[in-house]
Amino acid sequence: MELSITLTLNGAMRTVGIDDPRITLLDLLRERLDLTGTKKGCDRGQCGACTVLVNGRRVNSCLTLALSCDGAEIVSIEGLAHGDHLHPVQAAFIEHDGLQCGFCTPGQIMSAVGLIAEGHAGTDAERIREGMSGNLCRCGSYTGITDAVLDAQARMAPQNRGEAA
Ligand code: FES
Ligand code: FES
Repeated sequence: MELSITLTLNGAMRTVGIDDPRITLLDLLRERLDLTGTKKGCDRGQCGACTVLVNGRRVNSCLTLALSCDGAEIVSIEGLAHGDHLHPVQAAFIEHDGLQCGFCTPGQIMSAVGLIAEGHAGTDAERIREGMSGNLCRCGSYTGITDAVLDAQARMAPQNRGEAA
Protein backbone atom coordinates (compact mmCIF):
# COMPACT_ATOMS: atom_id res chain seq x y z
CA MET A 1 0.00 0.00 0.00
CA GLU A 2 1.44 3.36 -0.99
CA LEU A 3 1.70 5.89 1.80
CA SER A 4 1.05 9.56 1.33
CA ILE A 5 1.85 12.73 3.21
CA THR A 6 0.34 16.18 3.04
CA LEU A 7 2.64 19.19 3.27
CA THR A 8 2.36 22.91 3.01
CA LEU A 9 5.26 23.48 0.64
CA ASN A 10 6.30 27.05 -0.08
CA GLY A 11 2.79 28.16 0.78
CA ALA A 12 0.86 25.57 -1.27
CA MET A 13 -0.70 22.43 0.13
CA ARG A 14 0.58 19.26 -1.55
CA THR A 15 -0.29 15.61 -1.07
CA VAL A 16 2.55 13.34 -2.17
CA GLY A 17 2.64 9.56 -2.51
CA ILE A 18 5.58 7.87 -0.77
CA ASP A 19 6.59 4.53 -2.28
CA ASP A 20 9.69 4.10 -0.10
CA PRO A 21 9.28 4.94 3.59
CA ARG A 22 13.04 5.59 3.80
CA ILE A 23 13.00 8.51 1.35
CA THR A 24 14.48 11.68 2.83
CA LEU A 25 12.90 15.10 2.61
CA LEU A 26 15.87 16.15 0.44
CA ASP A 27 15.25 13.40 -2.13
CA LEU A 28 11.52 14.05 -2.05
CA LEU A 29 12.11 17.72 -2.87
CA ARG A 30 14.74 17.15 -5.54
CA GLU A 31 13.74 13.88 -7.15
CA ARG A 32 9.98 13.79 -6.77
CA LEU A 33 8.92 17.43 -6.66
CA ASP A 34 11.58 18.88 -8.98
CA LEU A 35 12.65 21.49 -6.44
CA THR A 36 16.37 21.29 -7.17
CA GLY A 37 17.34 24.57 -5.51
CA THR A 38 18.06 22.63 -2.35
CA LYS A 39 21.46 21.02 -2.87
CA LYS A 40 22.82 17.60 -1.93
CA GLY A 41 26.37 17.98 -0.68
CA CYS A 42 27.44 15.27 1.74
CA ASP A 43 24.04 13.54 2.21
CA ARG A 44 25.08 12.82 5.80
CA GLY A 45 24.37 15.94 7.84
CA GLN A 46 27.82 17.49 7.67
CA CYS A 47 27.68 20.36 5.18
CA GLY A 48 24.33 22.15 5.49
CA ALA A 49 23.81 22.42 1.71
CA CYS A 50 20.39 20.77 2.10
CA THR A 51 19.02 23.15 4.77
CA VAL A 52 15.30 23.94 4.58
CA LEU A 53 12.82 25.25 7.13
CA VAL A 54 10.39 22.77 8.68
CA ASN A 55 7.75 24.51 10.78
CA GLY A 56 10.07 27.51 10.86
CA ARG A 57 13.10 25.60 12.16
CA ARG A 58 16.28 24.92 10.20
CA VAL A 59 16.82 21.25 9.41
CA ASN A 60 19.19 19.20 7.31
CA SER A 61 16.73 17.71 4.85
CA CYS A 62 19.16 14.86 4.08
CA LEU A 63 18.69 13.62 7.65
CA THR A 64 14.92 14.13 7.74
CA LEU A 65 12.55 11.36 6.73
CA ALA A 66 9.88 12.66 4.39
CA LEU A 67 7.27 10.66 6.31
CA SER A 68 8.08 12.62 9.47
CA CYS A 69 7.00 15.80 7.66
CA ASP A 70 3.35 14.82 7.31
CA GLY A 71 1.33 17.94 8.15
CA ALA A 72 4.42 20.15 8.31
CA GLU A 73 5.07 23.51 6.75
CA ILE A 74 8.19 23.37 4.56
CA VAL A 75 9.98 26.33 3.05
CA SER A 76 12.76 25.70 0.55
CA ILE A 77 14.89 28.25 -1.28
CA GLU A 78 12.26 28.39 -4.05
CA GLY A 79 9.73 29.76 -1.55
CA LEU A 80 11.65 32.85 -0.42
CA ALA A 81 11.27 35.29 -3.31
CA HIS A 82 7.95 36.70 -4.41
CA GLY A 83 8.27 36.99 -8.18
CA ASP A 84 11.16 39.39 -8.83
CA HIS A 85 11.07 40.60 -5.24
CA LEU A 86 13.92 38.88 -3.42
CA HIS A 87 13.84 38.02 0.27
CA PRO A 88 16.06 40.51 2.20
CA VAL A 89 18.56 37.72 2.95
CA GLN A 90 18.83 36.85 -0.77
CA ALA A 91 19.33 40.52 -1.67
CA ALA A 92 21.97 40.94 1.05
CA PHE A 93 23.91 37.86 -0.14
CA ILE A 94 24.13 39.41 -3.62
CA GLU A 95 25.12 42.83 -2.31
CA HIS A 96 27.82 41.45 -0.01
CA ASP A 97 29.22 38.79 -2.37
CA GLY A 98 28.12 35.97 -0.09
CA LEU A 99 28.26 33.46 -2.94
CA GLN A 100 30.85 32.28 -5.42
CA CYS A 101 30.14 28.86 -6.91
CA GLY A 102 26.79 28.97 -5.17
CA PHE A 103 26.53 25.30 -4.30
CA CYS A 104 26.28 25.98 -0.58
CA THR A 105 24.35 29.20 -1.06
CA PRO A 106 20.74 27.93 -0.88
CA GLY A 107 21.52 26.20 2.41
CA GLN A 108 23.40 29.23 3.73
CA ILE A 109 20.48 31.49 2.87
CA MET A 110 17.89 29.17 4.44
CA SER A 111 20.05 28.85 7.53
CA ALA A 112 20.41 32.65 7.75
CA VAL A 113 16.64 33.11 7.43
CA GLY A 114 16.14 30.59 10.25
CA LEU A 115 18.86 32.13 12.42
CA ILE A 116 17.38 35.61 12.09
CA ALA A 117 13.84 34.31 12.78
CA GLU A 118 15.15 32.57 15.91
CA GLY A 119 16.32 36.00 17.12
CA HIS A 120 19.85 34.68 17.55
CA ALA A 121 21.72 36.64 14.88
CA GLY A 122 22.26 39.74 17.02
CA THR A 123 24.82 42.27 15.88
CA ASP A 124 27.87 40.24 16.71
CA ALA A 125 29.72 38.61 13.80
CA GLU A 126 31.13 35.95 16.11
CA ARG A 127 27.61 34.93 17.15
CA ILE A 128 26.55 34.70 13.52
CA ARG A 129 29.57 32.53 12.70
CA GLU A 130 28.64 30.20 15.55
CA GLY A 131 24.97 30.12 14.48
CA MET A 132 25.93 29.36 10.87
CA SER A 133 28.67 26.86 11.70
CA GLY A 134 26.65 23.92 10.38
CA ASN A 135 26.88 25.38 6.86
CA LEU A 136 30.18 24.86 5.10
CA CYS A 137 31.44 26.84 2.10
CA ARG A 138 34.42 25.56 0.19
CA CYS A 139 34.89 28.86 -1.64
CA GLY A 140 35.59 30.86 1.50
CA SER A 141 32.69 33.30 1.17
CA TYR A 142 32.33 33.45 4.94
CA THR A 143 33.12 37.14 5.34
CA GLY A 144 30.51 38.09 2.75
CA ILE A 145 27.99 35.70 4.29
CA THR A 146 28.48 37.18 7.77
CA ASP A 147 28.14 40.73 6.42
CA ALA A 148 25.00 39.70 4.52
CA VAL A 149 23.37 38.21 7.62
CA LEU A 150 24.19 41.32 9.67
CA ASP A 151 22.79 43.58 6.98
CA ALA A 152 19.65 41.51 6.32
CA GLN A 153 18.66 41.13 9.94
CA ALA A 154 19.08 44.87 10.50
CA ARG A 155 16.68 45.51 7.62
CA MET A 156 14.06 42.91 8.50
CA ALA A 157 10.94 43.70 10.50
CA PRO A 158 11.11 42.83 14.23
CA GLN A 159 8.59 39.98 13.92
CA ASN A 160 10.82 38.37 11.29
CA ARG A 161 13.81 38.75 13.58
CA GLY A 162 12.21 36.70 16.32
CA GLU A 163 11.46 39.82 18.37
CA ALA A 164 8.10 40.94 19.73
CA ALA A 165 6.56 43.51 17.39
S1 FES B 1 23.64 17.31 2.16
FE1 FES B 1 22.62 17.45 4.05
S2 FES B 1 24.10 18.20 5.45
FE2 FES B 1 25.20 17.86 3.60
S1 FES C 1 29.91 29.60 -2.61
FE1 FES C 1 31.02 27.82 -3.20
S2 FES C 1 30.75 26.36 -1.63
FE2 FES C 1 29.85 28.19 -0.94
